[in-house]
Amino acid sequence: MKGIILAGGSGTRLHPLTKITSKQLLPVYDKPMIYYPLQTLLDAGITEILIIVAPDRAGDFLRLLGSGKEFGAKFTYEIQDRPEGLAQAFIIGKTFIGEDDVTMILGDNIFVGDEVFLRDAIRSFKGGARVFAKEVPDPERFGVVEFDAQMHALTIEEKPRKPKSNFAVTGLYIYDNAVVARSEALKPSQRGELEITDLNNLYLRDGMLDVRTYTGFWLDTGTFDTLLDAGIKVREYKQRRAG
Ligand code: TTP
Repeated sequence: MKGIILAGGSGTRLHPLTKITSKQLLPVYDKPMIYYPLQTLLDAGITEILIIVAPDRAGDFLRLLGSGKEFGAKFTYEIQDRPEGLAQAFIIGKTFIGEDDVTMILGDNIFVGDEVFLRDAIRSFKGGARVFAKEVPDPERFGVVEFDAQMHALTIEEKPRKPKSNFAVTGLYIYDNAVVARSEALKPSQRGELEITDLNNLYLRDGMLDVRTYTGFWLDTGTFDTLLDAGIKVREYKQRRAG
């Protein structure tokens, strides 16, 4: 299993914080944001990790994270010239992925509180695709899963105006090697992006998407409020653990 951290994008919702640096380098309590998704991959035993960054910020990531040695891992870096969608990561990462399966995590997503669940879900992966849904108060900001009465996923809709459930797809995705070819066959959406929701729906259509509900703490830190909430939550969590 290889790992990808997608840490490009423009972070426009966080201007002016992101005018001269990347969102994923901003502090979340006592660490740069990217340390958290990185730790999620490391906790699962993933040590070969591709970090995808925006062109003007590559030097900062390299200076911060280096070769990966300090983390007991090996980091590779690639540049995404323009933010053309989450699924583009698998095209950019084609050579890196090679013949392996891959777990991708978004560089601004923070999962704490249920590390063992995620670690086991990554380690036990056998094929197809696996994603994690979390009940949220604002599902319209995300890909939203529609479930049948038995909680089997029916479809995923990207940022629907009228969400069919409160379950958002979080920014942690596990795929088999077919993800590269499937991503290459995607067409850009109306907003000009290769959508991860389209990719997930392809797996779903083929009966190969495992949607698991995640009950730990998850935040996408793309707005001022969620960035602040994430810092506060991480502090609470650390203080609780310290006893
Ligand atoms: P978003 O939060 O959707 O986009 P953004 O970071 O550009 O922010 P904004 O909407 O405020 O302009 O992206 C989610 C994560 O994925 C974030 O970590 C950035 C990353 N990303 C890429 O690396 N490449 C992309 O093409 C896209 C769309 C996002």
